[in-house]
Amino acid sequence: MSEQIKVLIVDDIQSTLDNLQKLLSFEPDIQVVGTAANGKEGVEQAKKLAPDIVLMDVNMPIMDGIQATETLAQEVSGSPVIIMSVQGERDYLRRAMQSGAREFLIKPFSGDELIASIRRVYQLEQKKESFLAKTTAGTEKAPAAPPDGETKQRAERGQVFFFYSGKGGVGKSLVAANLAVSMANETKGKVALVDLDLQFGDIGVLLNLDHSQGITDLIENIDHMDQEFIREIMVDGPFGIKVLLAPISPELADLVTVDHVRRIFGELRKMFDYIIVDSSAHLGEINLEVLDHADRVVVVTSLSIPAIKNTKLALKIFDSLSISPDRVVLLLNKSDAHSEFNKESVEANLRFPIAGQIPNDPKLVINSINRGNPFVTTHPESEISQRIRELVAKLLPTPAPTPEPESAEKKPRKGLFARR
Ligand SMILES: Nc1ncnc2c1ncn2[C@@H]1O[C@H](COP(=O)(O)OP(=O)(O)OP(=O)(O)O)[C@@H](O)[C@H]1O
Ligand SMILES: [Mg+2]
Repeated sequence: MSEQIKVLIVDDIQSTLDNLQKLLSFEPDIQVVGTAANGKEGVEQAKKLAPDIVLMDVNMPIMDGIQATETLAQEVSGSPVIIMSVQGERDYLRRAMQSGAREFLIKPFSGDELIASIRRVYQLEQKKESFLAKTTAGTEKAPAAPPDGETKQRAERGQVFFFYSGKGGVGKSLVAANLAVSMANETKGKVALVDLDLQFGDIGVLLNLDHSQGITDLIENIDHMDQEFIREIMVDGPFGIKVLLAPISPELADLVTVDHVRRIFGELRKMFDYIIVDSSAHLGEINLEVLDHADRVVVVTSLSIPAIKNTKLALKIFDSLSISPDRVVLLLNKSDAHSEFNKESVEANLRFPIAGQIPNDPKLVINSINRGNPFVTTHPESEISQRIRELVAKLLPTPAPTPEPESAEKKPRKGLFARR
């Protein structure tokens, strides 16, 4: 390999620096170009050495790793950070992600993990650079299009319903897709369905949509993105819903950043009344961001021990993230699929009320999936479709637009993704 990956290591423990340096010296494609003993020194070294990767400890004197990562994100482009932290510093995970770190390694990690992480982050950075080069070469910077009249009126109005489950395969995509279609039919409102299962999203398959364009096309042109462009990239689904599809290939998922998602959702909120979001179980920075700002979080679970265990963990994390239980709607899917558990036993175990139940209907569901036709359109009178309609009704009367009394102790809600 001709090009070596230049690595800067920032850690206040000399023996750790030595060990990491030694470990990386065996890799022909990696070169440690410098070390630093605290965050401040790390930032200075990064400016001087322009490393391809910065390995950053968290707890350090003078300037900690999180602050240093933030500074690097703002001041030094092209030097992505991999945070190294010890177990038990769980709170750091979130802060590290928000500070702009690309990966997070929990100490003690193996040499293989470290090396794989360095190579992965490096390759992604290369990909991004070539992306950027392509987009800036092909287009001239145009001023953002002014919002149209309708947009002004609808500004910040759309409600976001985020579908999440701590366990895969519990039916969130199926329910989210059918719910979006049902919501459009019931309310006649403008409904968007966003597939944020960025690696393995299957909304396109569930609704039999043309999968030639999706979120990747938006991020490639993010600086020129306006509502018209978003509308063009979204694909038409049943009952007039508009669908923003996941990238066509899993490796493209990493190109989507929190900032992209923030900007896209900022526009979607202005364009649609309801935005249904499907997700993956991974609680990475993108999911955390949407979770934080969603009007309702629909947590889907099912009657299996792993699903219940992970739902419990997810609810606990929501609690620690100060997500109010009022915003959480717990949904039990395939609610009659198991004779040993029932709604009450799940509620007792989770100490959380189940707001809705969707029956198990393998025949109808498999037929619907295979044909790419949502069951709410083909079998609107089936029990499963009726339950979806009930869920629509439950989600809709979210905070009524009635004026709050002066003394109301409600914190003003920030616009979606309008944090920075
Ligand atoms: N109510 C139901 N009745 C019968 N089968 C169901 C039901 N809900 C889901 N399924 C089955 O479970 C499978 C998984 O559903 P789905 O893909 O929606 O789960 P998911 O939570 O989105 O999974 P992932 O986390 O992998 O994205 C479906 O293919 C379908 O066969
Ligand atoms: Mg899914």
